[in-house]
Amino acid sequence: MSTLAITKAYRRYAGVYDRLFGTVFAQGRRMAVQLSTPTAGRKVLEVGVGTGLSLPAYAPETEVWGIDLSEHMLERARARVARDNLTHVKDLQVMDAEATEFADGTFDTVVAMYVVSVVANPAKMFREISRICRPGGDIIVVNHFASTHWLLQAMERSLAPLSSVIGFHPHYSMSNMLDDSRLQLQAVHDVNWFGYWKLAHFHNTPVHSAAAALEPAYASQFDVDAKRA
Ligand SMILES: C[S@@+](CC[C@H](N)C(=O)[O-])C[C@H]1O[C@@H](n2cnc3c(N)ncnc32)[C@H](O)[C@@H]1O
Repeated sequence: MSTLAITKAYRRYAGVYDRLFGTVFAQGRRMAVQLSTPTAGRKVLEVGVGTGLSLPAYAPETEVWGIDLSEHMLERARARVARDNLTHVKDLQVMDAEATEFADGTFDTVVAMYVVSVVANPAKMFREISRICRPGGDIIVVNHFASTHWLLQAMERSLAPLSSVIGFHPHYSMSNMLDDSRLQLQAVHDVNWFGYWKLAHFHNTPVHSAAAALEPAYASQFDVDAKRA
């Protein structure tokens, strides 16, 4: 999806986003926030922060920055920060997660919730978030990944031509993400309804291949070609 298609789609969504995706995605957001701040005083960046639904959940001693391509989504996030007096939120800016203005190693944790299958170039976004996260820091991704069930897979494929309208790629797989990220995967959790979404917890440690990203415990779960290791 192009940047223009993304901003158009999320301009349409902005007014109804919280009603459509607030509750449905809430469990994944809660778990991502918990994992993103294992110790107090962390600097956290949320890429694709959207309307800021997760922002009230951070502990007050955390410092949180948010970026998003869509000014319309961010307007809602800024209103939430003002309304709920969220003083731990340091800044919300229009910025592209594929090319940010932050210095190397600025954040302890970078969180990307329901964003990986929206951005135009996920591999570029992973390179960028790995650069601005400190080495060994935490990168937390929550997303739906292409199903391995034939019926769901067929449905997801049928939606693919509509990506620009629905605002995400329904067929982005976990193995696509491991190829794109090339980071050490620490854990994967099922989240939201029927575990249909996943939370992937990476350490910001580069690996040379998708297969090398996998802890042995996860190797059997994902369709990753071990020969690439
Ligand atoms: C499905 S919404 C997720 C919003 C929020 N994270 C949540 O938990 O509901 C995806 C968001 O990613 C943003 N986005 C898409 N591509 C982006 C990019 N390259 N850089 C920053 N934000 C992006 C969209 O504008 C949109 O607000």
